[in-house]
Amino acid sequence: MSALEVIRMSTTKRSPDAATRGFNRRSFLTTTAASTMALTMLERARADAASAPAVQSDARAPMTMRLRVNGREHQVALDGRTSLLDALREHMGLTGTKKGCDHGQCGACTVLMDGQRVLSCLTFAAMAEGHDVTTIEGLAAPDGTLHPMQQAFVDHDAFQCGYCTPGQIMSAIACVHEGHAGSDAEIREYMSGNICRCAAYPNIVDAVNEAKTKMKRA
Ligand code: FES
Ligand code: FES
Repeated sequence: MSALEVIRMSTTKRSPDAATRGFNRRSFLTTTAASTMALTMLERARADAASAPAVQSDARAPMTMRLRVNGREHQVALDGRTSLLDALREHMGLTGTKKGCDHGQCGACTVLMDGQRVLSCLTFAAMAEGHDVTTIEGLAAPDGTLHPMQQAFVDHDAFQCGYCTPGQIMSAIACVHEGHAGSDAEIREYMSGNICRCAAYPNIVDAVNEAKTKMKRA
């Protein structure tokens, strides 16, 4: 029986008739016992509430997250609304990933999550927990040898200002792994989410064509 039910039972109004006819020693004892029980239960409920952990009510309070980036664990305390892009650049010092539009339009912020390309400006950092994130900083071998796609971009002059290049390279690697680099037309189609304001597109296609053969051998 809940405290509320006990209180109701102990305070239910009786009709005048019942009051005069039925109020005897038994009903007096029953009512007193019910009231005592209700008070005890209320006291216990109050004590439980006082000892319960405080509920976090501030939605802006930092959330602790563990993010695995380029094989390394990072523990960060971030506003839950922080994008993966801002977490990488502002909180982990990984500025290789670029912020172009910050609206999912240009592809400059492309990173890999479990090998799949994602736009880090449209991905909450919290969504990356439990996944392997790879950025441009994580591509070269420990001895500094460039990834075949990085090397192909250098060899084919596949950039001018270089601002879009990290996103282009991450996207190009995924494009090859997805099996979408079969022809120039296919490469152009599946790289169309990555904009290059310097219009290095022909060189980017050449770089992807060269790297895809080396990646298959690797
Ligand atoms: S910065 Fe993410 S798509 Fe442009
Ligand atoms: S190389 Fe300048 S934006 Fe692509």
